Amino acid sequence: MSKHNLENITRDEYPYLNLGLEGIVAFSTTKSFIDGQKGELVYSGYTIDTLAEYATFEEVCFLLWNDRLPSKKELDELNSLLVHERKLPKPVLDYICTTEKHAEPMAVLRSSVSMLADFTDPSLDDTGNAIVMTAKIPTIIAAFARARQGLDVVSPLDEGSTAYNFLYMLNGVRPGAEAEKTMDLCLILHAEHGMNASTFTCRAIASTESDIFSAVTGAVGSLKGPLHGGANTAVMNMLLALESDLKTADPVAFTKEKLEKREKIMGFGHRVYKTFDPRARLLRTMSKSLSEETGHEILYEWSEAILKTMKEEKNIDPNVDFFSATVYYSLGIQPDLYTAIFAMSRISGWTAHYLEQMSNNRLVRPRALYVGDKPKEWTEISDRS
Ligand code: SDX
Repeated sequence: MSKHNLENITRDEYPYLNLGLEGIVAFSTTKSFIDGQKGELVYSGYTIDTLAEYATFEEVCFLLWNDRLPSKKELDELNSLLVHERKLPKPVLDYICTTEKHAEPMAVLRSSVSMLADFTDPSLDDTGNAIVMTAKIPTIIAAFARARQGLDVVSPLDEGSTAYNFLYMLNGVRPGAEAEKTMDLCLILHAEHGMNASTFTCRAIASTESDIFSAVTGAVGSLKGPLHGGANTAVMNMLLALESDLKTADPVAFTKEKLEKREKIMGFGHRVYKTFDPRARLLRTMSKSLSEETGHEILYEWSEAILKTMKEEKNIDPNVDFFSATVYYSLGIQPDLYTAIFAMSRISGWTAHYLEQMSNNRLVRPRALYVGDKPKEWTEISDRS
């Protein structure tokens, strides 16, 4: 596909042309605030550091949906709704267990979320359906992860947190407190991030007054891309490629070689953060301790070497995807599931933005700069070469 030649487009001729909507403020929101210069992230009035220290993922879900923390009664109600909604409709589970074993987990998630719309209770409102998807997405991911290996699907428990149940359904054994806490923290850190590509996609679909399942299906498709949520899997594959040849593994030379070829190092850079992503700071600490506990120190050491090289060569810092890869790997999770785990968390942010869009909607409809041919005479097919 040819790249349009935009070099001769002068800014004063087309003052509003911002490729990738860079720098464009398209919505107002109460869901999160990002200070890209200071490296700060706030969810509806609470810094990510405060939430990481004191909250659970379920409290963050309630916060994003309601712009306030839940009372104990409200949190208990949400937790029991999530437990009640974890099981999948049989046709969805049948699809997951019979689809191509080599299908991409994000493709199976995209199809499954779309199918859920057929089976949801028609009396549920959008918040009710947000809870349904938040409850069912972990079950979808764990079921496919096991079915594709020929393992029995593990049904969700009638108790326990989202993090606890996901690890239980994935591994078939109850996780320890440390593993649950780590997964819960990862879910908090990935829950919401303003107008990222997948949330923008969700809001654009919502703005046509389409349904919440369509908006989330579109968001899953957007998150799948390696420039967005797909980066965490790419980071892990990069580190495993290095590990596959321990004798010659040199993360510094590897990084410099890719940069010389003008290739992107996954897990680095960000459209908004021009300093360390505050989520990466927290994940870096988790990656260090978990890698040491699980005997993957070398992966953490290489990560630090790549980080140092990227700073020295390009003055670029890591984003949320860089250290989340080694954290999930230390939890024993297969690399191609990492983006789906991102979605398992971001469902809270997506649905919060859907609700916000519907509360004060205006159709999303930007313009495009036409750089095609000027109107010309018709040419008969016999005269076309
Ligand atoms: C997420 O938006 C969000 O909030 C997303 C997210 C969320 O929570 O929803 O934070 C999650 O998606 C994080 C990003 C995950 N993606 C990756 O890690 C993929 C690698 N990163 C890059 O593709 C890039 O940094 C982007 C896409 C994230 C941001 O790209 P921009 O803002 O369009 O910047 P750019 O591509 O124009 O890069 C500017 C310069 C270029 O150098 P020059 O051509 O000017 O010399 O920085 C360089 C780029 O080459 N650069 C990189 C780089 N990222 C930017 N060089 C090497 N490796 C990289 N990763």
